[in-house]
Amino acid sequence: MARTKITVIGLGYLGATHAAAMAELGFDVLGLDVVPEKIKLLEQGRTPMFEPGLEELLRAHAAGVGGSTGRLRFTDSWAELGDFGDVHFICVNTPQKHGEYACDMSYVDAAVESLAPQLTRPALVVGKSTVPVGSAERLAARLAELAPAGEDAELAWNPEFLREGFAVHDTLHPDRLVAGVRSARAERLLREVYAQPIAEGSPFIVTDFPTAELVKTSANSFLATKISFINAMAEVCEAAGGDVAKLAEAIGHDDRIGRKFLRAGIGFGGGCLPKDIRAFMARAGELGASEALTFLREVDSINMRRRAQMVELTREAVGGALLGKRIAVLGATFKPDSDDVRDSPALNVAGQLHLQGAQVTVYDPKGMENARALFPTLGYAASALEAVRGADTVLHLTEWREFKELDPATLGDAVAERHILDGRNALDPQVWRKAGWTFRALGRPTA
Ligand code: UGA
Repeated sequence: MARTKITVIGLGYLGATHAAAMAELGFDVLGLDVVPEKIKLLEQGRTPMFEPGLEELLRAHAAGVGGSTGRLRFTDSWAELGDFGDVHFICVNTPQKHGEYACDMSYVDAAVESLAPQLTRPALVVGKSTVPVGSAERLAARLAELAPAGEDAELAWNPEFLREGFAVHDTLHPDRLVAGVRSARAERLLREVYAQPIAEGSPFIVTDFPTAELVKTSANSFLATKISFINAMAEVCEAAGGDVAKLAEAIGHDDRIGRKFLRAGIGFGGGCLPKDIRAFMARAGELGASEALTFLREVDSINMRRRAQMVELTREAVGGALLGKRIAVLGATFKPDSDDVRDSPALNVAGQLHLQGAQVTVYDPKGMENARALFPTLGYAASALEAVRGADTVLHLTEWREFKELDPATLGDAVAERHILDGRNALDPQVWRKAGWTFRALGRPTA
C-alpha cells in the first residue's frame, strides 16, 4: 500500500513545525501558504520566525536543500495540494477579531473553501487550528457541499497543544493526541499518521467533534487560570507582606496542584492564551452558557492588572514621576526562546511607560525586529549593557537565560541608579542586593 501523503495548509508556528515534523516521521509532505515570501524561505530551510530546532528539521527534509531527504515540498497551488494529499492538515491561525472577544475564523473558512473543490478522491481534512466549539460541525457540512468526492472527503478535528519555544519537541512527542472523528476510517488514518508517537506512549484519545474542540480551549483556559491564580496570590502577598515565590513553591509540592505554571509575574501573553480565553467566553455567550465562564473574565482582568502594577512599581522606583526618567527594559517577547511579541506583557509595560513620558530603551535577544515593527517609537539597544546605560531603573520583563546570567556589578557601573524590578520572578534577589541594587519583584517583600 502506498504511504499516506500529507499536506499542511498555513505555515506559521503551528504549520511549519507540523510539516517538518511529519517529514521527520517519514511522510511525503506538501505545505501551502498564501504568503509567497514564507514559501521561499521555507524552501531554503529557513523560517520566518525563531523556533529552536525548527530550521535544522527543515534543512533535513526540504527538497530545495542539498543533502536533505527531499520529503518536504511547498506550493501555492490548491490544485496541486488536492491532487497530492490523502490527509490535509489545516493549521492557519484564528486571531482575535479587532475590538471583539470572538476569534476571526476567516482563514480557516477560506482554507476549506479553497481546498474542498480540489478533493476529487478520498481524503481526510484535519483541523488543527484553535476554533470556537461548533466550527467542525459547520466545516464538515461545507466540505460535503463543495468536495467532488462527496462523503469520501471527510473532516476530523485534531487540536494542537504545542508551546512556542518547544514546538518541535511537542509535535514529535506530544503529551496526548486528541482525535475528534466521525468514522472508523478517519480514526485509522490519524492513528497511521501518528503511529510513532503512539508507539512511544502518547495517549490517543478518540472523541466527537465538540469535545475535541473543547479540549483545546479548556486546556488553555486552565493554564491561564493557573497563572492568574498565582498572580492573584501575588496581589494578596503584596498587601499582606508575603512572598509569592515561596508560596508557589510550597503549594506546588502538593501533586494535585503541581509546580508548573505557578510563576507569578507580569502575566500571560502571546498569540494563544489571551485570545483563546476571550474567544471561549464569546462562544459560551452564543451558546447560552456564558455564566459557566464568567470566571475567565476575572482571569483576564487579574492578568491585565499585573501589567499596570509593574508600571506603578516603576513609578515608585523612580520617585513618583515617570516623565523624562530613563527606563531600561530587558525583554520584549511574550516569553523566552521565542521572537513572538504578540500581546507581549513586556512590550505592553514598555509602551505604557513610554506613553507616560519615560524614556524607554528595550533590549531582547530575539524579538527586536518584531518589537520595533510593533512599537517603533520606543528606544532600542543592541545589548543588555547598552540598554541599561544611564538608566534610572532596570525592568526585567522576559526571563531569557541571558538575563539570568547578567553580572549585577558590571551593570551597576553602567546605570545611573541601581534599581531593578523583576517582572518575572526569575532573578535571584540576594545576588542583586549583595551588589548594591535595590531589588523589587511582583508579589515579594521589598527586602
Ligand atoms: C500555550 C499553551 O501552553 C500550549 O499548550 C498551546 O498549544 C498554545 O498556547 C497554543 O494554544 O497554541 P504558548 O502560547 O506557546 O503556549 O505559551 P506558554 O508557554 O503557555 O506561556 C504563555 C504565557 O504565560 C507566557 O507569556 C508566559 O510568560 C506566561 N507564564 C507561563 C507565566 O506568566 N507564568 C507561568 O508560570 C507560566
